[in-house]
Amino acid sequence: MTGRMRGFQTRAIHAGQEPDPSTGATIVPVYQTATYTQEAIGENRGYVYARSGNPTRTALEHCLASLEGGRFGLAYGSGMAAITGAMALVGAGEHVVVADDLYGGSHRLFTSVLNRYDVRFTYVDATDPDEVAKVVRPETRIVWIESPTNPMLRLVDISACAEIAAHAGAVLVVDNTFATPFLQNPLALGAHVVVHSTTKYVGGHSDVIGGAIVVDDEGLADKLRFHRNATGGIPGPWDAWLVLRGAKTLAVRMREHEKNASQLAAFLRTQRGVARVHYPGFPDHPGHAIAARQMRGFGGIVTIDLAGGEAAARELCRKTRIFSLGESLGGVESLIGYPWTMSHAAFSDEEKLRKGITKATIRLSVGLEDAEDLCDDLARAIAASGD
Ligand SMILES: Cc1ncc(COP(=O)(O)O)c(C=O)c1O
Repeated sequence: MTGRMRGFQTRAIHAGQEPDPSTGATIVPVYQTATYTQEAIGENRGYVYARSGNPTRTALEHCLASLEGGRFGLAYGSGMAAITGAMALVGAGEHVVVADDLYGGSHRLFTSVLNRYDVRFTYVDATDPDEVAKVVRPETRIVWIESPTNPMLRLVDISACAEIAAHAGAVLVVDNTFATPFLQNPLALGAHVVVHSTTKYVGGHSDVIGGAIVVDDEGLADKLRFHRNATGGIPGPWDAWLVLRGAKTLAVRMREHEKNASQLAAFLRTQRGVARVHYPGFPDHPGHAIAARQMRGFGGIVTIDLAGGEAAARELCRKTRIFSLGESLGGVESLIGYPWTMSHAAFSDEEKLRKGITKATIRLSVGLEDAEDLCDDLARAIAASGD
């Protein structure tokens, strides 16, 4: 069946998801087991212990690999576990180039955990690939980027960074959480490793924490699998099942997220209380041309700066009724977040300001409610927040 599955939705619903061999169950079962009965010593059916392998997880891994266009998928217990797993590709004394506009948790892992293992990091503005080229060195093993970035939605040229990484003998890792495989396939653009927090759009319902890596290179897959088995950052079977169920509707949801986000972004531009609207779908967004080239849409996140500064931003977070104030993004429900103290708390004030995050910045994860209701909710809350 796999060979005939070309379309994204067909792969999301069927890749890795053959009827269960023992019962014919159409939906992949939750294999809630820690171990597997062996026929004899050394004779088994491919599964021996659930940290090393679980059929529910295998189904998810095949599905995600297919959606990202790589041969090997690995599921993890969280996005951060996947990011930690990808960092197994670098060792003591080696060097990582990191795009400075990245998720706060990744920044915390790199600066407060991995630095203790003598991994060296250089932060760079990767929206200019020349800056990346300037800082790679012989011991560089990884170039690490996100695109679009969180929360300012800057675009990084994936092909250009892949070329620089490959030329330096390093791998390009792309955190593709914001774009999702529906809108962007970094491997097809030359990247070597794709990382996801499947907690977000892939899971899609804010009911599970998960992560994933997809690669096409078997050597990389072997290293990552060895490290995950040694360190244990796997998802349980229920969580793998929830992410797999979410993935089936990713395409349908992403189209609607994008429709709502573009409508809301245009609406917010008309609001007096909003000083700036960041959305890559605007033709005058600085990264629009790159987004149009390397993505198949502009995504479901809109970031705004409020004209009334910090006080207005804090009030807005209190006053919305449909947008819930919460960490995370990518669920069917709309979320409002305050990056200064929430998602990007791990950065110093100077670092946040350098990225363009101010005390007036608000991140909106636009959900699947009716767009008119979302516009009304924000218009009312902005007006009540003292523009
Ligand atoms: C871009 C990005 N990468 C990684 C993560 C970490 O994922 P998790 O919370 O599933 O560990 C997040 C979480 O917000 C994220 O936004």
